[in-house]
Amino acid sequence: MSSEASTEELMNQFVLGNYGRFQVAFSHGEGSYLWDESGKKYLDFATGIAVCSLGHCPEVMAKALSDQSAKLIHCSNLYQIREQAELARFVVEKIMERPGKVFFCNSGAEANDGLIKLARKRAFDKYGKEAGKHEVITVTQSFHGRTLGGIAATAQDKVKVGFDPLLPGFLHVPFNDCDTLREVVNEKAAAILFEPLQGEGGINPVTPEFVEIAAELREKFDLLLMFDEVQCGAGRTGDWCGWRTILEGSGVDVEPDAVSWAKGFGGGFPIGALWASDECEGALGPGTHGSTFGGTPLASAASLAVLEELDESGALGNVKRQETRIREAVAKWDLPVLDSLRGVGLMLGFVLNSDVFSEIPALVDSGQTPSLYVVNKAMDEGFLTVPAGDDVVRWLPPLNVSDAEVDEALATFSEVLSSL
Ligand SMILES: Cc1ncc(COP(=O)(O)O)c(C=O)c1O
Repeated sequence: MSSEASTEELMNQFVLGNYGRFQVAFSHGEGSYLWDESGKKYLDFATGIAVCSLGHCPEVMAKALSDQSAKLIHCSNLYQIREQAELARFVVEKIMERPGKVFFCNSGAEANDGLIKLARKRAFDKYGKEAGKHEVITVTQSFHGRTLGGIAATAQDKVKVGFDPLLPGFLHVPFNDCDTLREVVNEKAAAILFEPLQGEGGINPVTPEFVEIAAELREKFDLLLMFDEVQCGAGRTGDWCGWRTILEGSGVDVEPDAVSWAKGFGGGFPIGALWASDECEGALGPGTHGSTFGGTPLASAASLAVLEELDESGALGNVKRQETRIREAVAKWDLPVLDSLRGVGLMLGFVLNSDVFSEIPALVDSGQTPSLYVVNKAMDEGFLTVPAGDDVVRWLPPLNVSDAEVDEALATFSEVLSSL
């Protein structure tokens, strides 16, 4: 292998081309900043798509990884695992504040596969095979991951096309459409699953009414209400639970039967998890589900270190404070390219005005979507963001981002938008 080859050349030659990648390779990171191989510095408001909740290479995580890897890295789920038990206790007592049990895996898609299996198995155990109670209801613009279960659950053709036959038993209803939800759900449904705040679909919060109707249907048809908090959970909205932030003050007080997490839950160490209420007890008994790497001592220690630091450092309060600062600043912008700002906590979507963008010759010539065009322009200025659909640019900064970093982001981004 030639040492002359660039990272991009090596990637193109040896790595499967399933991602549309930007032409940049990062060599190191610290806090809210990344440096590329040429030494250029970037303010990172992408955080690996909502993963690095404490920023890059936080000391607590490096220490937990180093200490644990000197003690015990891997241990099979054939045995009792102290670190896994401690992490599960944190989920039950601190995040959920409700009794239940936790299963660990390695990614968001796997956590959602676990939710789907949990719902089907519970219905099977309770009603028998003949009842055919296995349908999972999901919503448009959702994203639940790239496994066969994940793409069947995701109501977006772009992830499904070419992979037929898809896993059957999924029905999609328009997000936040209460009437259609009522029409579609019947005794065949094992679960309703949605993201309380959609990420990939464009930063769309669920309405309290939709949650309320879903909860009504849960009572009527004995199904599970399941929330995918892979992107919006683990503190990103300013509370441990995204749906609680969204429902706050609405008068709707609904709790789910099961929840999935990944991304920020491990702060950069690959881990996924699901919590299931006591209502689901026994559905996934011995031999029904598993993962060799789920909840290893190393993964569990890293994740617990991240969650404890978020808890003890006041990062969740910081999320709410920075959201307010960003909203106040953006409200003063007078930029025709920007339509609105939506989202919750530090999961914010800048909605671009596509009519204005269709008149920018450079954008039309580039063949890019407005969101990708803006993300590229911001990257040129050393500011990393993420597209969400064609017209939304996401900000997903570390949850401990500082005032100065937010000010820098606001200044750079408003300049980029003005320059268009
Ligand atoms: C809401 C949601 N669910 C599931 C996933 C899939 O997670 P992973 O890529 O870890 O499998 C994602 C990833 O973007 C997501 O945003």
